[in-house]
Amino acid sequence: MTIPMTTTTDDHLIELDDFAFEFLSELAERESWRKEIHRPIYHVHKWWAQRLGSVFRGLLLGAVLPPEADLRTAFYQQHSLANISVLDPFMGSGTTIGEAHKLGMTVLGRDINPVATRSVRTAMGPLDRRRILTAYNALSENVEQRIRALFQSTDRRGLPCEVLYYFWVMQARCPDCATMVDLFPSHIVARNANPKRKSHVQVRCPACADIFQILRSADNVTCVSCDFQFDATKGNAAGAKATCTGCKSSFLILSAVGDTRPHFRIFGKLVLRGDRRKEYLPVSDDDLASYCRCSATLEAEVKAGRITLPSLCLTDGHNTRQAMNYNFLRWADFFNDRQLLALGWLRHAILDLEDVDARGALLTLFSGALEFNNLFTSYKGEGTGAVRHMFSHHILKPERMPIEANVWGCPRARAAFPIYLGAACSARLNTEMRQPS
Ligand SMILES: C[S@@+](CC[C@H](N)C(=O)[O-])C[C@H]1O[C@@H](n2cnc3c(N)ncnc32)[C@H](O)[C@@H]1O
Ligand SMILES: [Zn+2]
Ligand SMILES: [Zn+2]
Repeated sequence: MTIPMTTTTDDHLIELDDFAFEFLSELAERESWRKEIHRPIYHVHKWWAQRLGSVFRGLLLGAVLPPEADLRTAFYQQHSLANISVLDPFMGSGTTIGEAHKLGMTVLGRDINPVATRSVRTAMGPLDRRRILTAYNALSENVEQRIRALFQSTDRRGLPCEVLYYFWVMQARCPDCATMVDLFPSHIVARNANPKRKSHVQVRCPACADIFQILRSADNVTCVSCDFQFDATKGNAAGAKATCTGCKSSFLILSAVGDTRPHFRIFGKLVLRGDRRKEYLPVSDDDLASYCRCSATLEAEVKAGRITLPSLCLTDGHNTRQAMNYNFLRWADFFNDRQLLALGWLRHAILDLEDVDARGALLTLFSGALEFNNLFTSYKGEGTGAVRHMFSHHILKPERMPIEANVWGCPRARAAFPIYLGAACSARLNTEMRQPS
C-alpha cells in the first residue's frame, strides 16, 4: 500500500484530537512487561531511560502520515520512508533512531555519554551473528579455562565442583575491643522467590558457620551441626548499627569503617556438583587459599602489564555519596581481587580480537556484565534471576552480603558473560529479520 506523504508540517495524523493514543497505550503496556524480549536490540547494554519502541513507532508514523491515514493499520505495515531524516541528539539507548531506521528513514544519533553511543553502534552496526560467534570462540579459547579455574572447589563429599556463587559479608572493626565483626543483617543465605511454593530456606549458623536447609520458620532454628539455637532472621547489623560479636557492645557502622574501604570476607558458596545438583556450603580453607592465590596472581598480572585496572575515581554527587562515605573512592574498589583478575583477563582478551566491530560489540557486552559482577550485587535467592544487580537501589548502596558470580559461568549460573553474548546474538538475529527489505 502506498500512503500519500504530506508536505506541510502542520497537517499530520499526530495533530488530530482523535490520534489513536489508546491503541498505542495498549501496545505500550504490553511491551512494557518484558521490554527486552519484545525489542532486544535496545537492551544490549543497561540504560536508565528506556523508551518503549511501540510508542516511538507510533509517534514517528503519526508525525509523517497524513490525517486520513489509519494508525492501527499503518503500524503493522512495512514502510520505506527514505525521504525523511530523523536526528536524535540525545539518543540514549537509541529507541527513536532504531524505530525510525525500521521505517526506512535516514537516521542520525548522538549522545554525550559514550556508553550510549557504543551501545547503539553495537546494536545497529554492521555485524552479524556469525562474526560475534567467531570472536566468542576466540575468547573462549584464550581465557575460558583460565577464568573457570578460578571458580573450582570441592563439594561436601570432597568431589570437584564448580562454584556458581560465593557469598561474602562486609566487616567492621569494633571500636571497643577491636574484634573484626561480620555485618550480617540476617543469617538467611537464600530463600525461594516463591516461598508459598517452595518454603525451604538456607541458613547459616552463627556459632559454627555451617550452612544448612530448614523447612520451618527461620526465627527458631537449631543447628544441624552444633545444636546451637538461634533466630536466623536477625543478624548483628541492623540499619546504621551493629553489635560486636566479641564484647557485645553496639557501635555505629559508618564510624567503625574508618578511612579505608570496608573489608569483606567469604563465608559460603553455592556449587554445581558433578551430578548437576546445586549445594550450599560454608567456605573451606581451600576456598580461602584459592582466593589468596587470585590476589597474588592479580598483583603479578598488573605488574607485568597483562591486566590494567580501572584508574578512574568517583566524583561526588547524589548517587555516589553513599558509596564514597564507605570509602569506595575508585571504581576499582567496587570489585574483589578475583573479579578484577577474571574481568581483567576477559577485557584484555577482547582487546586482542582482530575483528574491530566484534571487539566493540564484545566490549559493550563486557561493560554490561559488570553490573552483575561487583561488590554491590546481592542474592535474590532461587526461582528467580539470582543476582540482584548494583543499580536496583537507584543509588550506589554498599551491600553487606554481596554475591560473587562465576564470571565465565557454567551450566545453571546467571550473570555470566556468555549469557550476555546469547542475548546479543538473539538481539542481532531479531534485527536482521526485521530490517526493511
Ligand atoms: C531520556 S534519554 C533519551 C532517550 C532517547 N531519545 C530514546 O529515544 O530512547 C536522554 C539522553 O540525553 C543524553 N544527554 C544529556 N545531556 C546531553 C547533552 N548535552 N548532549 C548530548 N546528550 C545529552 C543523556 O546521556 C541521555 O542518554
Ligand atoms: Zn552450628
Ligand atoms: Zn567489641
